[in-house]
Amino acid sequence: MQLPFAESYKIKMVESIHRSNRNEREKWIKEARYNLFNLRSEQVFVDLLTDSGTGAMSDRQWSEMMLGDESYAGASSYYKLKNAIADITGFEFFLPTHQGRAAENVLFSAMIKEGDIVPGNSHFDTTKGHIEFRKAIAVDCTIDEAFDTTLDHPFKGNIDIEKLENVFINNSGHKIPMVIITITCNTSGGQPVSMQNIQQVSQLSQKYGVKVIFDGARFAENAYFIKKREPAYADKTIREIVREMFSYSDAMTMSSKKDAIVNMGGFIGFREEELFNKASVFNIMFEGFITYGGMSGRDMNALAQGLYEGTDFDYLETRISQVEYLGKMLKDAGVPAQFPFGGHAIFVDAKRFLPDLPKEQYIAQTLAVELYLEGGVRGVEIGTIMADRDPITRENRYPNLEMVRLAIPRRTYTNNHMEYVAASLINVFERRSGIKTGYCIVKEAPILRHFTVELEKVK
Ligand code: F0G
Repeated sequence: MQLPFAESYKIKMVESIHRSNRNEREKWIKEARYNLFNLRSEQVFVDLLTDSGTGAMSDRQWSEMMLGDESYAGASSYYKLKNAIADITGFEFFLPTHQGRAAENVLFSAMIKEGDIVPGNSHFDTTKGHIEFRKAIAVDCTIDEAFDTTLDHPFKGNIDIEKLENVFINNSGHKIPMVIITITCNTSGGQPVSMQNIQQVSQLSQKYGVKVIFDGARFAENAYFIKKREPAYADKTIREIVREMFSYSDAMTMSSKKDAIVNMGGFIGFREEELFNKASVFNIMFEGFITYGGMSGRDMNALAQGLYEGTDFDYLETRISQVEYLGKMLKDAGVPAQFPFGGHAIFVDAKRFLPDLPKEQYIAQTLAVELYLEGGVRGVEIGTIMADRDPITRENRYPNLEMVRLAIPRRTYTNNHMEYVAASLINVFERRSGIKTGYCIVKEAPILRHFTVELEKVK
């Protein structure tokens, strides 16, 4: 018999989670104004809101915590992290930040001005928020295939080279300070970008004198997909692929809460000292001195260790197979989802799930609430609410895709939990014709509204 797949780790410590009943959940979600971010974690049984900072650290990471050096300047933990980043990514210069959006804030302060244009592959919401906050414009150049969830394409995170070149040509009067490649592309469904596409973007950007910045939150998962799906890389190690990927970029922002498997942390990697020096000023203002930048020494130690664990092939295979396990159960039951499955999450296609619900009633949010009511499973809306209003017209932006993302925390849940989640969603799928109305907004913030929005049921 062929030996079955099994996790590349065993469990040393556990945390209790509590089931609830439907009556409790109805009361709680109403009190939360139908915004899943407002729920208390005890009100959730399986929490797939995000894979960010929710992973389980290893015994080695916890032991690194004890070795943290909390010196204000020049801590050994800073040098340990500096060496790990240089080793894994090839970036000789780096700044620690407290998380990914802080890295965006610092780097963009040094690079983006009002009126700038920043093309990329479906910028993540905080990335877009930091661009628009500076009165610059984020232009989505993702390939069209990404927006057809039924289409099988190995690299749905790819940038459309023609779209990108048009942005370069049509905006010659504007300044384009950078192109951002998000690896993997979270917004299009945790979809990878191929090495070939990275090379093409890099060549084109060089031609037009534009810098290439990676949003590297899930860079290791991207490398795993390159190994699996791009034949030339089948025999390379994950770390070789990672080094090559980063060799095509000028700098990177990192949310270490994802592929570096820590609960909090981030950094910026730079190739050139000049940009590093420029950004250092903002790091000191917003984050902290350049040798800690918003992180404790112990957290920098755990992050350095996490970078090695996160780029281990067996770990990545375990992780991505678990996401696929959930995806396959849903697919077999006919639940529409972004295909192929993403690296960190399953993205349920809410428009195909609830085809008769008007988009003005927030289709993906409606589905996310139904899933919570069904099983106490918390996903997240990646749809109209998150897409926010147009910064100029203030009209709702209706994105091509309305998704409910089920993000799987790293090393946290078992496949039994995945089966529970699948059963909950399949139950909703079976009663979908009874879901006839959605929600309307009663209160929202001027930017990044999804975190605090308050909703009411449409009567
Ligand atoms: N870039 C990407 C691609 C992300 O997915 C995130 C966060 C960030 C940047 C910002 O990093 O949270 O550390 O400030 N994504 C989380 C998510 C929140 O749920 O996908 P952060």
